[in-house]
Amino acid sequence: MNQTIRQAARLEGAVALPADKSIAHRAALLAALSDGPSKITNFPDAADPRSTLACLRQLGVEIDEDQEEPGILRVEGVGIEGLRAPKKPLDCGNSGTTMRLLAGILAGQAFDSTLVGDASLSRRPMARIADPLRLMNAAIALEDGHAPIRITGRQALQGIEYRLPVPSAQVKSCVLLAGLYAEGETTVVETIPSRDHTERMLGLDVFEMGGARYLTIEPGWRIAARTWTVPRDFSAAAFLLVAASIVPEGELFLPGVGLNPSRSAFLDVLRAMGASIKINYEREEGSEPLADLTVRPAALHGVSVSGTLLPNLIDEIPVLAVAAACAEGRTEIRDAAELRVKETDRIDAMVKNLRALGADVEEFDDGLAITGGAPLTGTTVDSFGDHRIAMAMGVAALVASGETTIANADCASVSFPGFWEMLERLGEG
Ligand code: S3P
Repeated sequence: MNQTIRQAARLEGAVALPADKSIAHRAALLAALSDGPSKITNFPDAADPRSTLACLRQLGVEIDEDQEEPGILRVEGVGIEGLRAPKKPLDCGNSGTTMRLLAGILAGQAFDSTLVGDASLSRRPMARIADPLRLMNAAIALEDGHAPIRITGRQALQGIEYRLPVPSAQVKSCVLLAGLYAEGETTVVETIPSRDHTERMLGLDVFEMGGARYLTIEPGWRIAARTWTVPRDFSAAAFLLVAASIVPEGELFLPGVGLNPSRSAFLDVLRAMGASIKINYEREEGSEPLADLTVRPAALHGVSVSGTLLPNLIDEIPVLAVAAACAEGRTEIRDAAELRVKETDRIDAMVKNLRALGADVEEFDDGLAITGGAPLTGTTVDSFGDHRIAMAMGVAALVASGETTIANADCASVSFPGFWEMLERLGEG
């Protein structure tokens, strides 16, 4: 599907953002492994978390979706030893989180399993999880470093201490989940912090020493059945925070947005660029902090983003690049080479798309620099099959003169179903 967006003079309204997919995956997985029935509220109807549900169902977990109240799930937890052998390969679709977290769980099972994904996921690096799992004595076969991932069950996993070579919450979570099945403790050491949902939701103690975080899981760690509430997705909010900052008039209200400090550095960066964002009614639900956000147009200026901050805002870089194109002065984003192994090469995709609109962009191996202020002119750009590229370009289209067509725009539903309809509605507001 191609989506055409016209330049907008005003964005106005309140937006019920989709629930956070990172947290939703984990809620589903942990509810499945818990010792009894759990409830999940506000589960998103997005393609990625749906891939996790489909895989869990294939592993014998009963999950009921409330027909009257969408987003309410009842998960019949089977306990950490209760999964059943799947009859066919488990299809993770486009979802790296599904594949990498499930691989950790499946490495400890008494049955064989295979994880497959779509063309994009099948190009993404999987040695980063196979390496530590093999150190734990798991039997994992990849194809040239990629999925399909073939896991041979019945291995006696050993606990390890693993220092993450890349700051990745997916790798961290994979190793911790495998640690549930290992003999002895498993410790993950991260020197650059990544999102901390897994350790929060498992209730693990975190020790900080010498600038590193140490996370330890004991074998057989029990996961209590409970109600999980999924906050609205900060990474989805990011698109609207930028949109409402750069469109000349209006105001957007975003209630109930997750503001986990390991995920929300983009808020500080956008404010440092001059954005007008109010944070109200800060509260905590389940194990996650959230708040209501109100954003109004503002004159932005360039910033530099690099170093240990990157994992905290890695998913927001495409839309940060759009903000930078509308800001006065230069924005430089470095230490972001991980963007090259996301759903697409996001550095390449943003450089090509922003240049197509007329922006002044420089490309580096590990990032990009944008000198803002060049007039943006509507044209055709491509999502490269990546939800965050599609939505970032949808936001850029709001300030490009005339019309911009985003080719292959339907992939937005991987994390944000209804994104295009919402953008149109807000523009009419
Ligand atoms: C995620 C971790 C990040 C992030 C991805 C979701 C998670 O990936 O980019 O969108 O839910 O753990 P990495 O672990 O590869 O950094």
